[in-house]
Amino acid sequence: MSTRIAVYPGSFDPITKGHEDLIARAFTFADRVIVAVAMNVAKQPLFTLEERVALIKRAVDRPDVDVRSFDGLLADFARAVGASVIVRGLRAVSDFEYEFQMALMNRNLAPGVETVFLVPAFDLTYLSSSLVREVARFGGDVSQLVHPAVRQALAKKFAT
Ligand code: PNS
Repeated sequence: MSTRIAVYPGSFDPITKGHEDLIARAFTFADRVIVAVAMNVAKQPLFTLEERVALIKRAVDRPDVDVRSFDGLLADFARAVGASVIVRGLRAVSDFEYEFQMALMNRNLAPGVETVFLVPAFDLTYLSSSLVREVARFGGDVSQLVHPAVRQALAKKFAT
């Protein structure tokens, strides 16, 4: 049987426990997960591309997970790596509109690749990278929300 490859794309600025949870859940239908870190995020990221990739590698240390960066269209990247599935997380209704548009556009661009939406663990539903950045920026405790390496990286970024 062929290897089922899932691509899990995002900004990961930084990776949170919510992302980690979704990566683990993707293995219910995938043999390999490629975490695809977008280079061209419109917003100015807190962490550089290299930092975001390195933090994901620290937080998700398993042989069946690859961490790659990509530029350009996600659909092209997914096809190039032989993925059959794009994984996205759905946390709240507010995520839906954008995710729905993106899924339809990606299907248009890469008809053989299906988008699969996963729901995170209940206690991680409220979690987002932007909230984590905000809490860390003002000295709040993010140790329950991110891997220790990410917590340290945030503390370093915001050290005055
Ligand atoms: O974590 P994010 O910021 O919600 O991730 C969004 C991301 C990176 C998955 C999305 O912006 C993307 O796929 N960018 C790559 C460019 C692309 O393919 N755009 C068209 C999507 S239909």
